Amino acid sequence: MNKFYFIFSFAFILTNIFNTVAVDNKSLGEFCEKRLQNAKLVGWLKFEEHFKRINESGELKQEYESIPEGKLFPSDEGAKDENRVKNRYLDKYLAYDHSRVKLNKRYGDIEVVLDKCDFLDHYIVRNYLLRYQNKNKLVTHYHFMSWPDEGVPEHPSIMFNFVKAVRANRDYRPAKPLVVHCAGGMGRTGTFILIDSMLQAVQKFRKVDFAQQLCSMRSRRINLVETYPQYVFAHEVLSLAINEIKKAPRVHI
Ligand SMILES: *[C@@H]1O[C@H](CO)[C@@H](O)[C@H](O)[C@H]1NC(C)=O
Ligand SMILES: *[C@@H]1O[C@H](CO)[C@@H](O)[C@H](O)[C@H]1NC(C)=O
Repeated sequence: MNKFYFIFSFAFILTNIFNTVAVDNKSLGEFCEKRLQNAKLVGWLKFEEHFKRINESGELKQEYESIPEGKLFPSDEGAKDENRVKNRYLDKYLAYDHSRVKLNKRYGDIEVVLDKCDFLDHYIVRNYLLRYQNKNKLVTHYHFMSWPDEGVPEHPSIMFNFVKAVRANRDYRPAKPLVVHCAGGMGRTGTFILIDSMLQAVQKFRKVDFAQQLCSMRSRRINLVETYPQYVFAHEVLSLAINEIKKAPRVHI
């Protein structure tokens, strides 16, 4: 049986840490062009102090504001009548042509059975069995509830525990595609992806560059990490995670 994951099915984004994306379009802007070429990596032991300093000095805000928002690449496919209706916001926030996911419309032959459902404090974990032409797939759906649209969760630990729960699934593989979505597939989706990819980076390389990763993510989907407080929140979650990893360096999150 094939197993794959389904978190929050709108934006399908593979986060390639420290791999720059080859997109034939210079409209990602000077800041991102430079940052994608030359990362400004921060070692994990200095991260907390670095974050506090740039948060207070305003550099973090400046960095966030330097990353271009809005439509950066063509999205002509999504603007076609047959595709427009599949988008929650019709003409707004269309998927870019070069990274869009083609939605399969044949739900009719697919049987979906809810196999298991666990209610936790801030999220629900559901196992769905999908059957199609004698093939089965198990889909694990992590449904996070404590996150207002355009806002941030109450405390970074809530998010950190959620990311850990996803990773604790025995079939979790960082290289396996995850499907992440919220309502618009930008703010909460982007923040989750940024947190998860920076957590992977800190464990793999002991270094992170948030702005570089967000530049790379924005080259694939419009407005990922929609607000500055969400960008700050992602840093807060990583600070918390680093403190936990320091206490138990052998434990892989
Ligand atoms: C970041 O800065 C804001 C104000 O600019 C402050 O309210 C917040 O507590 C700071 N966060 C951290 C973790 O330093
Ligand atoms: C880059 O993106 C902009 C905005 O969508 C578009 O107008 C322009 O033609 C694109 N350039 C290339 C080389 O694809």
